[in-house]
Amino acid sequence: MSATSPVRPVLPPDIRARKGTTPIVVLTAYSTPVARMVDRHCDIVLVGDSVGMVIHGLPSTLGVTMEMMILHGRAVVRGAEKAMPVIDMPFGSYEEGPQQAFRNASRLMAETGAPAVKLEGGVHMAETIAFLTARGVPVMAHVGLTPQSVNTLGGYKVVGRAEEAEKVMADARAVEDAGAFSVVLEKVPEGLAGRITQALTIPTIGIGAGVRCDGQVLVVDDMLGLFTEFRPKFVKRYAELGQAADEAIAAYAADVRSRAFPAAEHSFPDVLPLKDKP
Ligand code: KIV
Repeated sequence: MSATSPVRPVLPPDIRARKGTTPIVVLTAYSTPVARMVDRHCDIVLVGDSVGMVIHGLPSTLGVTMEMMILHGRAVVRGAEKAMPVIDMPFGSYEEGPQQAFRNASRLMAETGAPAVKLEGGVHMAETIAFLTARGVPVMAHVGLTPQSVNTLGGYKVVGRAEEAEKVMADARAVEDAGAFSVVLEKVPEGLAGRITQALTIPTIGIGAGVRCDGQVLVVDDMLGLFTEFRPKFVKRYAELGQAADEAIAAYAADVRSRAFPAAEHSFPDVLPLKDKP
């Protein structure tokens, strides 16, 4: 934001104040150009640790490092003028305890310029969230399916069916009590997500958690259809960019092989035409 710009960036208290009003719109981004597009339409731009799978081809989010989050976080902050950037804390950067979490969260904020972080976990992370929020680190929590625990959970399953429901409810209440300004509910049955949304005073942001959440988040590459095979049930595709890109790359390859590209208009003549001469 420039000194004269009328645009005021969204901050954690603005998101907190949206509870029960208009839905909060969130997408991920990992680069400046995509952050600029997301910024025009969304309230929050999440630098998710999904960057590891989406951009770096990792099999899960477990191999994502602080350095990766800082690099992509800086790129996104450069492209976000209005929407609030939130940076995911990577696996292993906060679970040891509140001090480790503060050291790494403050580094993410100082080195990217983002005003908030997100971390996974409910009851067992409450002490850490309270420590961070008391020291100037706004925290978006993340409960339900927590992908960094994929090996403990035994897969990317729906979390919160039957007797597990009360555990997810307890996690959501614990992060609210600890001071989180909002909470992501991932792959939680829609009735339970609705109950949690009613019970909490902070906004819930759903992904695969039904329409009754206070907001929604998707991985931007998923909703743009950049992956041709990966089609999770909870993603609505708003474009088929993967297919369009595949067709464009095939057409380019054919043009190069047939010498149809580059044509004269893409090439520089040896002698400048008169009108171009200085
Ligand atoms: O890493 C990520 O992109 C996320 C969202 C899917 C919530 O955590």
